[in-house]
Amino acid sequence: MTTETPGTSTPLENLLAEERRFPPAPEFAEQANARHELYAWAASDRLGFWAEQARALVSWDTPFTQVLDWSDAPVAKWFHDGTLNACYNAVDRHVEAGHGDRVAFHFEGEPGDERTLTYADVLREVSRAANALEALGVGKGDRVAIYLPMIPEAVIAMLACARIGAVHSVVFGGFSAEALRSRIEDASAVLVITADGGHRRGNPSALKPAVDASLEGGTTVRNVLVVRRTGQEVAWTQGRDLWWHEALEAASDQHTPVPVEAEHPLFILYTSGTTGKPKGIFHTTGGYLVQTAYTHLNVFDLKPETDVYWCTADVGWVTGHSYIVYGPMTNGATQVMYEGTPDTPHKGRWWELAAKHGVTILYTAPTAIRTFMKWGADIPAQHDLSALRLLGSVGEPINPEAWVWYRRTIGGDRTPVVDTWWQTETGAIMISPLPGVTAAKPGSAMTPLPGIAADVVDEMGEPVPNGSGGYLVLTEPWPAMLRGIWGDHERFVETYWSRFDRQYFAGDGAKKDDDGDIWLLGRVDDVMNVSGHRLSTTEIESALVSHPMVAEAAVVGASDETTGQAVVAFVILRQEYLSQVDEPGEGADVAATLRAHVTSQIGPIAKPRTILVVQELPKTRSGKIMRRLLRDVAEHRPVGDVTTLADSSVMALISAGLDKPA
Ligand code: WT7
Repeated sequence: MTTETPGTSTPLENLLAEERRFPPAPEFAEQANARHELYAWAASDRLGFWAEQARALVSWDTPFTQVLDWSDAPVAKWFHDGTLNACYNAVDRHVEAGHGDRVAFHFEGEPGDERTLTYADVLREVSRAANALEALGVGKGDRVAIYLPMIPEAVIAMLACARIGAVHSVVFGGFSAEALRSRIEDASAVLVITADGGHRRGNPSALKPAVDASLEGGTTVRNVLVVRRTGQEVAWTQGRDLWWHEALEAASDQHTPVPVEAEHPLFILYTSGTTGKPKGIFHTTGGYLVQTAYTHLNVFDLKPETDVYWCTADVGWVTGHSYIVYGPMTNGATQVMYEGTPDTPHKGRWWELAAKHGVTILYTAPTAIRTFMKWGADIPAQHDLSALRLLGSVGEPINPEAWVWYRRTIGGDRTPVVDTWWQTETGAIMISPLPGVTAAKPGSAMTPLPGIAADVVDEMGEPVPNGSGGYLVLTEPWPAMLRGIWGDHERFVETYWSRFDRQYFAGDGAKKDDDGDIWLLGRVDDVMNVSGHRLSTTEIESALVSHPMVAEAAVVGASDETTGQAVVAFVILRQEYLSQVDEPGEGADVAATLRAHVTSQIGPIAKPRTILVVQELPKTRSGKIMRRLLRDVAEHRPVGDVTTLADSSVMALISAGLDKPA
């Protein structure tokens, strides 16, 4: 069988010729949280294994008696007669256990401001915030949109929702007003928590105007809570808008967390699918907390007393939800949180922060690693990174060269590197080496974690033999699995459960090597991965055609050395605009206009790197755009098989027109 072009520029043959092995150092293995026996235990008694993790890692108000109810498949119920509170688990119980003075966050603002929050500080803040939310009439089951920069208030806002049983929907601060509006509407949010702005690349970057715009023309939102971060001017709607600091000051710092059922929704997080409309992936409380805590403890080998853990993700993505907020805090971790970009004010900022706080565990994305490779090893070499003892990678396939560079240059050739495969939908890490246990191969996510069942199957859903490629599937339910797409059960079943019988279809191509270890090869659907961010080709296409200039658009992800993939758009302009590109030099304006338009519709992350104006698009006889051929063009390859095209001369036309990209 064939899998579609992988998301990175490393050809499959290079991957599978990778012979380097990194067995665990004996000193690391000796002290590791994870033990090899976990695999055998979970294999022999999967549900008993999860029940034990649930009891050991999470505090329950009402103990559960049933582990899994799969009778309503594909909607799972885990630990469903138990009750608990996620915020209590992440905060209160550490203070009750005498760890109130432990630092929860070393926060570093981009301009150089610092804040240290202990677990006792977080408890006070989150209690005030919970009281403030309740005073605004927000209660159990209500949806709250959170649109904030990477500041501690983002975590506090999320936990305050969890504390009162409200469902948070965090929208990444880089998304546009339009994107925010559709997410607020889809979830019927009653409250938005935002800020005046955040600091980005040395400048304040406003957030509040996007919120104001998103609420124009009628909304379910009653109030907007505004954190003062940059001090920039904000427009104010009396009666609707409130300052966060004033609301919290007025509130008591005592608050009793509301126990919820294990299957009570904890959050919604929107992610791109294969259609134009983002999917509201929703997760519930008990199983999600158990698996994020379990994976964080074992995959990152966390020692809460001594480690300083830094996950560089934004809380606007699932990595921030699971590996800044819920997993690490449930485990009582001390973390570094940084607001800004890695090169502000200089390219050594991350390493300076890592040295300053003695970071021991770092979790980041391949795109960042490749960027640092490009900047040069001399930059991290100027900082003392000797405290680092474990490195993690997530978001896209990591090419072996980047893996080895990461370990050598950042990890001093001593740290294990864990390449963790998972998704917004899986909620927590699924496939990864266990540090201290697994002899890692650079570029492979290795094997499913103990308690997780995954396989690679062919078109018919049959497992492929070792040495072959196919589709990645998850063959048993797992505690942190999504419980659905908000308000769209049919789409949930259709997207994940209809391609193969009773198996979850992840949308990724994968290969099992001769040892049965798994190599991820990138998406097999119309989803792109740009800098570890998931983008939908169809979503960007609909943004492009919503501009009056554009008649038709086709978007593909083309391999890019740094960002993994880059957005390349092919557009057909409307007749009345065509004259514009005929004038020399005007083409650039078309591209700039359309880039700005995509930015306003979705956000800067979706902005095409390249826009090519074409006369025709390659389509099958049934009218489906053949993106495969466009990808050949975008990646400067000879164009592949064109026999299924309705008009086979189209590709020649496109290639001929490429000497004048817009
Ligand atoms: C998609 C999920 C999981 C948090 C960040 C992204 C790709 C993720 C890996 C990895 C190869 C990976 C997959 C997946 N992906 N981690 N270690 N190796 N590919 O979450 O936005 O839901 O995207 O990211 O293609 O399906 P997401």
